[in-house]
Parts: sequence; structure tokens; C-alpha cells
Amino acid sequence: MTKVLVADDHIATRRMIQVALEKNGYEVVSVNDGLQAWSLLSSKPSLQLAILDWDMPGLDGVEICTKMQEEHKSRLCHIILLTAKEGTENITNALKAGANDYITKPFNKDELLARLHVGERIIGLQTQLTQAQKLESIGQLASGIAHEINTPTQYVGDNLTFLEEGFEDMQKVLGKYTELIALCRDNHLYDSIINDIDRLCHEVDLEYLAQEIPNATRQSNEGVRRISEIVHAMKEYSHPGMKEKTKCDINKSIVNTITVARNKWKYVSDVKTDLDPDLPLVTCLPAEINQVILNLIVNAAEAIQEMVEDGSKEKGTITVSSRQDHDWVDIKVSDTGPGIPEAIHDKIYDPFFTTKQVGRGSGQGLMVSYSIVTEKHDGIISFETEAGKGTTFTIRLPIDPLPVQESAATGEPGNAT
Ligand SMILES: Nc1ncnc2c1ncn2[C@@H]1O[C@H](COP(=O)(O)OP(=O)(O)O)[C@@H](O)[C@H]1O
Ligand SMILES: [Mg+2]
Repeated sequence: MTKVLVADDHIATRRMIQVALEKNGYEVVSVNDGLQAWSLLSSKPSLQLAILDWDMPGLDGVEICTKMQEEHKSRLCHIILLTAKEGTENITNALKAGANDYITKPFNKDELLARLHVGERIIGLQTQLTQAQKLESIGQLASGIAHEINTPTQYVGDNLTFLEEGFEDMQKVLGKYTELIALCRDNHLYDSIINDIDRLCHEVDLEYLAQEIPNATRQSNEGVRRISEIVHAMKEYSHPGMKEKTKCDINKSIVNTITVARNKWKYVSDVKTDLDPDLPLVTCLPAEINQVILNLIVNAAEAIQEMVEDGSKEKGTITVSSRQDHDWVDIKVSDTGPGIPEAIHDKIYDPFFTTKQVGRGSGQGLMVSYSIVTEKHDGIISFETEAGKGTTFTIRLPIDPLPVQESAATGEPGNAT
């Protein structure tokens, strides 16, 4: 429930606001003087909406706004001042002091509620922006870390290959030494040193080493190969978002994205690909298309996870395919999850719509994907689903976007010379 601080020394006004807000689903914290209001606002960042009377004992509403600006400038808090004072000068001063909005007494309840909604909308957008900035810096860090891991991985890999090949060569020489030792032993030559060698070979278990060292280097090489594959996929995936559309190999994007998302799907499903080997390059914003493919794979994995967790399935399958269809490319992400219930078909692209528990779903994946596909690429995103069988999302992208309209480019005033 959204909390609202209401501060007014007039008991009837305070009660009236409290009742109106509670009827509309808000939780109200109500106080009757400015000092209490300030103490709450300055100590509780969860209070992001406040309705403050201008004239109050202790501190008045405008003084509170001024103090908020001075001491908690970066705090997300939307303050609506209640005032009997009219006149541009008063109101300008209140807004300058840091009030976000004002309403004059006597006021209308519906108007107050509508203004409170505006406040909520602004706080919501600011929160989203902060979240987006956080994600962006995580993305940049990930790409930097991938780069940092790449260099040591490369020399570890090179050294392992050197050890592998070196040991093979040394084994050839060791083979000859073994023959020589056998010959000496048979002819009782250099008995003392041959005995030492036999004892040492026994101590270090030379036979075991000769057998297992190649296995160890082969397995380590395989591990390093996986690390570089993941690092490469991360680097390509989080390639700094280009502002201009470029020609992109969608099959490569799909393979990289599956690698990057491995931790999300590997416990609940297998991933299969069915990629068109003759797929043409698609002119698009690669980082954004990667984001869409990732969102769909993560949703597919989470849908299957739901069934694994409730015990109705042990493991599912996600299939990602690509095909050319005339001037279009279709990318499909199918899952063997529970399907999307009919009742929410027209809600899934809504901002913040989620059926997942807090912390798992943010309800932004499909909204963002929709905007990337339709608005930024003139493409189409659609889905087919069957209860208990699964869901297939299809992204349809034009291979080459429409050229920018000539008239729009030359029709600007001041361009004609
Ligand atoms: N593959 C899928 N199978 C079943 N339901 C899905 C699938 N993809 C999306 N949904 C539904 O659409 C909702 C919105 O998805 P999304 O915008 O990605 O947000 P989130 O994944 O954070 O919930 C999900 O909560 C879920 O109910
Ligand atoms: Mg999602």
C-alpha cells in the first residue's frame, strides 16, 4: 500500500483527507504539526508522498520543503502544499522552495486525489529511471569484466596447450628411457642406479602419471574453452548499445544469448536451436534485439521452472529457431511450460504486469520487448499458447528497415537553399 504523510493542525481537514485517501487504498500517516512532519520525512525514505499544510505550528509547509531541499535533495519525495494563500507570488515562492505541487483551500477531494496520482506517477518514473541506470552500469561492468577475464584465460589456455603438447613429446623420450632401463636391468648394468630409478618410479607412480596427466590437461583445456566461450558471448552480448542500426547475424545473437542465460535455464530445461543456415544479416540495433531474445528465453525458463517447482514436470525444453520469410526474419522462442491463461492475454505487455512473486518478476520484460520490436524496428511480436502444452513467442523483423522518407528530411524549414 502506498504511504502518504498528511500534516495539518486543523483536525477536521486532517480527518477528511485521511478518510478520502484510505477509501482510495492509501495508507495514511497523519500528524498535527510541522516538527513531527519533518521528523518523519527526514527519517523515513519510504515516505514518498506528502500533503503538508502551509500554516502549521513548529515548522510550516514551505519551511519543510526548504529543509528537504537543503538536507535531502536527492530523496524521491513528492510534496503537495495545502494553502489558503492565493496569488502568484506566494505560489511561486512555495514551488521555488521545493514544493512539487499545491492545492488551495477549500479544496475538492477528487482534485487532491488526482494530484496525488500525478505524484505517484512521477515517483514511479523516477524509480524506474534509477533502476534502469543501475542495470546499465551492471551491463557496462559485465562487459568490462568479460574483457578482463579474457586476457588471463587466453594465456592459461595457451600454457595448457603447451603443457599438453610438451608432455606428449616428453613421453616419447620417456618411452626410449624405459627401453634403455629394461636393457640395463637384463644385463645387470649400473644395478645401483637402475634400482634407484625403479624405486623412484614406484614412489611417484609413473604409470599413473603417464596415464592421468594427459586427461588432466585435456579436461582443463575443455574448461578454459568453456570460459572463453562464455566470456566471448558476454562481450558480444553486452557490446555497448549502438545508436545506429547495423547489419547483424541473428543466429550468432541467439547462440550468444543462450550462453549468457545458461544459468537461468540449465536447472530446469534443455535448450535446442533450429537455426536457418542461410539467414541473411538483419539491419537492427543488435544490443536491443539481444535484450528481446534474452527476455523471451528467461520468461520461457521461468514458465518451465514453475512446473518443475510444483512437481508437474522434471525438465522442460526451450527451442529457439530462426527463419527467413521473404523480406522478414522470424525468431521463435518456444517452451514446454504451462501456457499463458486466456484471462491475461491482453495484459502481458502492460508495464509492471507480472504473475511472478516479488523479487522474481518486474513485469517489464515484455513491455520493453514490445517497444523494441514494434517501435524501434517496425517489427511484430506475437505469441501462441496452449494450456499445459507451452508457449511460442515470435519476433518478426524486417531484414532491411524502410528508408527514411525523403520529404521528412528535406521539408524542414530553413533547409531550403
Ligand atoms: N513463456 C511464458 N509462459 C507463460 N507465461 C508467460 C510467458 N512469458 C510471459 N508470461 C507471462 O507474462 C507476464 C509478463 O512477462 P514479463 O513482462 O516478462 O514480466 P515478468 O517476467 O517480470 O513477470 C509474466 O509474469 C507471465 O505471467
Ligand atoms: Mg520476464
